[in-house]
Amino acid sequence: MSGPTEREPTRTELAGSFDAIAAAYELGRPEYPDAVLDWWDERGAFEPGHSVLDLGAGTGKLTRLLPIVCELHAVEPLANMRSEFAAAVPDVDVLGGTAEQIPYPDDTFDTVLVAQAFHWFDQGVALDEIARVLKPGGGLGLVWNEDDSDAAPWLAKVVDDKRLMAASTTSTERPVVEVLALHDAFGLAEEMEHRWELDTTIERVLADVLSRSYVSSLPPEQCLAVLTRTRESIEAELGTGVESIAYPYRTVAFWVPTAE
Ligand SMILES: C[S@@+](CC[C@H](N)C(=O)[O-])C[C@H]1O[C@@H](n2cnc3c(N)ncnc32)[C@H](O)[C@@H]1O
Repeated sequence: MSGPTEREPTRTELAGSFDAIAAAYELGRPEYPDAVLDWWDERGAFEPGHSVLDLGAGTGKLTRLLPIVCELHAVEPLANMRSEFAAAVPDVDVLGGTAEQIPYPDDTFDTVLVAQAFHWFDQGVALDEIARVLKPGGGLGLVWNEDDSDAAPWLAKVVDDKRLMAASTTSTERPVVEVLALHDAFGLAEEMEHRWELDTTIERVLADVLSRSYVSSLPPEQCLAVLTRTRESIEAELGTGVESIAYPYRTVAFWVPTAE
């Protein structure tokens, strides 16, 4: 599905593609369910006064949900994502920087959170950096929202189309628990899963599809073809002019404390 391009984009190029679609990202992507925030809270992530970093914060979809009893910080490499962040979460400063070079001193944070971004990192280097900026006794939370096509037959077609594109542009990654287990600065990872529905619209679903790196990095005519096909698939299942869509997600989260 990547078409007649000479070579497939690298991971760095794909990660950079978010800059061009920051507004679509903000419109289309979901936030994260309370169940995950509560689960992290039960593990001590958000004690009053805790210093919390949202790393690879994007437009602040996670940051805006974090409790204000904590001291909140954010790092995001792309300028357009930071602009959307500043508009959506004006009370939290967002610094330019990467997970491989976090612009904070050693032992700064009680909690580091990474939402929908850990797969973009050079993971070994990033874990070294996260361990460096975490205080002893701190913890790392990871989360991903995934399409739950088992929960809605109409979504299966959309997801199949997305998977076809994703398969041509990304390689299989080592499972997160294995990556975490290999790093001796961290203890045993815990994992949770939560299924939920977002009440959304077709425009937001199309913005979500456009904000996927493997779609936004396609040549414009292919990108448009993907959006047209997605709209047709949804309307074929849910009816033309459908106004409200219950979009099912399966959210997977991890919590890993620093090693004792
Ligand atoms: C799918 S978005 C997730 C954004 C946000 N955390 C959220 O939950 O909506 C991935 C984000 O990771 C950022 N990113 C990519 N590579 C990164 C890196 N090496 N270090 C830090 N952030 C990175 C991208 O710029 C993008 O904003």
